[in-house]
Amino acid sequence: MRDWTAIILAAGKGTRMVSETPKVLHRILGRSLISFPLGLADALGCRKIVAVVGHGIDAVKEEVCGLDKNKKVSFAIQAEQRGTGHAVMCALETIAETSGSVLILSGDVPMLDEASVTALENAFRKSGRCALLSFVPEDPTGYGRIIRENGRPRAIREHRDCSDTEHKIREVNAGVYLVDMAFLRTAVQNLKADNNQAELYLTDIAAEAAKTDSLEAVPVDARLVAGINDRSELCEMERVMSLKRNVTLMKSGVTMHQPESIRIEWDVTVAKDTEIYGGVHLSGATTVGERCIIGQGSALHNCTLAERVTVKPYTVGEGASLAAGCEVGPMARLRPGAVIGENAHIGNWVEVKNTTVGRGSKANHLAYLGDGIIGDGVNIGAGTIFCNYDGFQKHKTVLGNGVFIGSDSQLVAPVTVGEGAYVASGSTITRDVPPDDLALSRVKQENKTGRAAMLKKRLKAEKERRLTEAKKKEEGM
Ligand code: UD1
Ligand code: MG
Repeated sequence: MRDWTAIILAAGKGTRMVSETPKVLHRILGRSLISFPLGLADALGCRKIVAVVGHGIDAVKEEVCGLDKNKKVSFAIQAEQRGTGHAVMCALETIAETSGSVLILSGDVPMLDEASVTALENAFRKSGRCALLSFVPEDPTGYGRIIRENGRPRAIREHRDCSDTEHKIREVNAGVYLVDMAFLRTAVQNLKADNNQAELYLTDIAAEAAKTDSLEAVPVDARLVAGINDRSELCEMERVMSLKRNVTLMKSGVTMHQPESIRIEWDVTVAKDTEIYGGVHLSGATTVGERCIIGQGSALHNCTLAERVTVKPYTVGEGASLAAGCEVGPMARLRPGAVIGENAHIGNWVEVKNTTVGRGSKANHLAYLGDGIIGDGVNIGAGTIFCNYDGFQKHKTVLGNGVFIGSDSQLVAPVTVGEGAYVASGSTITRDVPPDDLALSRVKQENKTGRAAMLKKRLKAEKERRLTEAKKKEEGM
């Protein structure tokens, strides 16, 4: 535990996102932007975290409360955005502490890591009052410049307030600070809005600390402190973070083909010796066991895969559970409540919803299995439909162990087919089938000897007659 209070600045609207959603609620790999500084402040052992909110207060509060597992966060409301200094002032008004240190973070800087903050902490020990992180971006436009004299930092000058010479400075302020609480309280009280934007700039506390030579600026890698201001930066950040996460997974024993096209959200876990192909998306609380194969273009959300599961290309799953050794796809659709048993096979264009499929059972082609309980070793033929919905209610289809359902059958629920029973192809089953019975409900077939040739001859003559007629009509015109 550190004797630190963290302040997270998140009141801004994020105009450049052009969004109804407050900026800090936009997501990277499934997590909101604000979750990153919150998680960092918590991991660093800050005693208290104050989130300064202003735009979309209710939505931001709801998100933050959901993330606040250790109950450390309180909120400060900044009704009008009068600048970063004013935002910190609003935060300080909500807390009683007068000693200790304050870590100031931005709600829109997701990649900052513990090592950079440790470097900041070491510098702060030297300075005693104020230390901040700096970086050298490719283009410093818009950032506050670090003004140095004889190498020592003296002040931060916002881009709009810089002279031509100052505009040439490439080292800029990252917006991450560690400040002595007592010093900060006095310094923000004395801020003046005498700048281009008539705002209270937090950055002016730097010059104040420099008066007693108590200011340090620690340069860090630009990527770690990059902020998100528009959607292209959001996209680039997701690309970078996604690749970093995929490398971590590969190092933990996961094989990836074309990792730059694979998107795996933060809360997903993948065990070793699993192989993932290009274009795969794993999201939500999906967990994947050892030695699974996930084929090209598959998307799995909140799914649970045990070990040795094969997901063939272009399968879509949501809220499904797949037991060891089962095989699904290509192009299977597994909807919530699909529970696929050990070594079962669900093939192409098979949709499974709220249905348990027993061990070793198979539905290999073109079927809809909804609201069913399917036993072990069941074989379901192509084109089988569980007619589960009568327009008002859903009903159950129950198939016992070892049942065989012939192709193109409809099972009109509620209906039960007993163990070992056999439903002949093309049947419409509306009544229960007792165990070991053969059910067959189709029109009896009739074969008429030699009649095919006669029929074809008649149809051919008819076609020719029509063609001649059409030709005559055309010539007559
Ligand atoms: C700020 C710094 C600049 C630095 C840059 C780094 C100031 C005056 N400038 O500029 O030196 O180089 O960050 O990215 O601090 N916010 C509030 N309330 C407000 C204003 C802002 O909560 O009244 C929040 C924003 O939501 C955001 C953060 O503070 O999370 C930074 O504000 P922003 O407007 O992005 O400041 P910059 O102009 O980028
Ligand atoms: Mg900014």
